[in-house]
Amino acid sequence: MNTSLVPDTETVTLLIDADWWRQATVYQVYPRSFADANGDGIGDLRGIISRVPYLRRLGVDAVWLSPFYPSALADGGYDVDDYRDVDPKIGTLAEFDEMVTALHGAGIRIIVDIVPNHSSDRHAWFQEALAAPAGSAARDRYIFRDGTGENGELPPADWQSIFGGPAWTRVPDGQWYLHLFTKEQPDFNWDNEEVREDFRTTLRFWSDRGVDGFRVDVAHGLAKDLTEPLPSMSTLMDLTGPGENPLFDRDEVHDIYADWRRIFDEYTPPRIAVAEAWTRTADRRMRYASPEGLGQAFNFDLLQADFAAAPFRTIITENLALAEASGSSTTWVLSNHDVQRHPTRYGLTDADGSADSGIMQVASKAWLLAGAPEDELDRARGLRRARAATLLELALPGSAYLYQGEELGLHEVTEIPDEDRQDPAFFRNKGVEIGRDGCRVPLPWTHAGPSFGFGDGGAHLPQPAWFADFSVEAEDADPTSTLNLYREALRLRHELQTDESLEWIETGRDDVLHLRRPNGWESVTNFGTDPVALPPGRIVLASGPVAGDLPGETTIWIAPGGDEGGAA
Ligand code: GLC
Ligand code: CA
Repeated sequence: MNTSLVPDTETVTLLIDADWWRQATVYQVYPRSFADANGDGIGDLRGIISRVPYLRRLGVDAVWLSPFYPSALADGGYDVDDYRDVDPKIGTLAEFDEMVTALHGAGIRIIVDIVPNHSSDRHAWFQEALAAPAGSAARDRYIFRDGTGENGELPPADWQSIFGGPAWTRVPDGQWYLHLFTKEQPDFNWDNEEVREDFRTTLRFWSDRGVDGFRVDVAHGLAKDLTEPLPSMSTLMDLTGPGENPLFDRDEVHDIYADWRRIFDEYTPPRIAVAEAWTRTADRRMRYASPEGLGQAFNFDLLQADFAAAPFRTIITENLALAEASGSSTTWVLSNHDVQRHPTRYGLTDADGSADSGIMQVASKAWLLAGAPEDELDRARGLRRARAATLLELALPGSAYLYQGEELGLHEVTEIPDEDRQDPAFFRNKGVEIGRDGCRVPLPWTHAGPSFGFGDGGAHLPQPAWFADFSVEAEDADPTSTLNLYREALRLRHELQTDESLEWIETGRDDVLHLRRPNGWESVTNFGTDPVALPPGRIVLASGPVAGDLPGETTIWIAPGGDEGGAA
């Protein structure tokens, strides 16, 4: 590690490039399932530090760290007890600083997850609110209301939480508090100035410690209109028109982010932020990405799309236009900790790979998808399509957010016994949805050994036997592995990265997408199953075997300037 006062060259580069995020590749670490250094079954910061060389070799520009704060893990850490500390189960603040130094020393930036919509019920403020009387200042930091019915025995409104079950819980003195998620996640009242000030302090706390940016959880939820009488809603997503729902995507929420922007801009380079904002339309989402606001927003459109040329093309075209209009760059996501991994979605025989089906359309939340029974899953096909989709994603302008384990081509773990499940979405919605544990199983690092090298003390969610073949060790040795595909793709992406635009090259086929970036970098995806003729040019990377023609469900990259035809 660099101990001198003079920053090394990697750190200097990190200091001067204010636009680094526009086309970055960001790798999401779900800390409890990444690497466990002390062998207690839970991933930790030391584990992340030990894998910095792995991340560097992979070629990512930044790490997004999901919550690592003190938490009872009622919702995998998205229930925060203290926003300015590290969970002792995971590490210490000193180790956090060491991790930032190690990442920066490797030229990798770090974004932390900030959870402003709700705290945990163990947060000092919520404990204070419980102890304080109705109408007190302590209660005003959250959303407490009297009940309805003759004796206040009914909740203030009929709202159901996003994880199922009522969105209101009653406290001993008879009042009720609002929680859009579990009852351990009381919603903050963002009309309260103390709440606003405390989050300013938190943003500065982590920015001062060197973090490069923030991923903003439920960014569309903070501002709420709770004017009485509260409307009745069969789902929280009722009252469809933009700005009409009392809980989500209200226009006033952008005042909060304009305030945050002033804080981000106090730093050099300015801290960045990316919004998790589930909005009705893509143009509403782009408001979160405005340079006067958070600056970037997750675009989940591809994640919700079928594996098919037409929707991919429409989504890409629309989002590039919106990004240009907003001054932001667009983002792409195929997997994260809330949805079934994309090889599994693409391998389901009864669907084309869209995470947006059935119940999910109602609640507009990708994880509300029933689990995949094994006999309906074609694993090889799912992975083939996933590799093709990823290579297309990585050829696009804008930034790509990757989720840990996708570089190994991991499938969703569908075989977790009920008694081992942890996700509140599973427990609060029994029999309706399987929850998100299947994409949160600790990573396999080695072919054999305790927990496949995750740690010496086993894994907090059970790993299936097939993880052996998907381990870093196994894939490292195989030149055709998904890991080596990602490494080569990220290396080339750095080399080829160019202006944030593309042109479509018409192929005369409705199952093939062919795009060209301004420097001549091309990507061609055959979404169909029949082979098609190879376009001219030098192939520098392919998502699967290519010989003579472009096989189905395969993407190739063509180098700029090359014009010799044929296969690589
Ligand atoms: C976000 C997170 C999800 C969490 C929820 C509540 O959607 O991505 O994991 O459960 O917010 O914080
Ligand atoms: Ca540990």
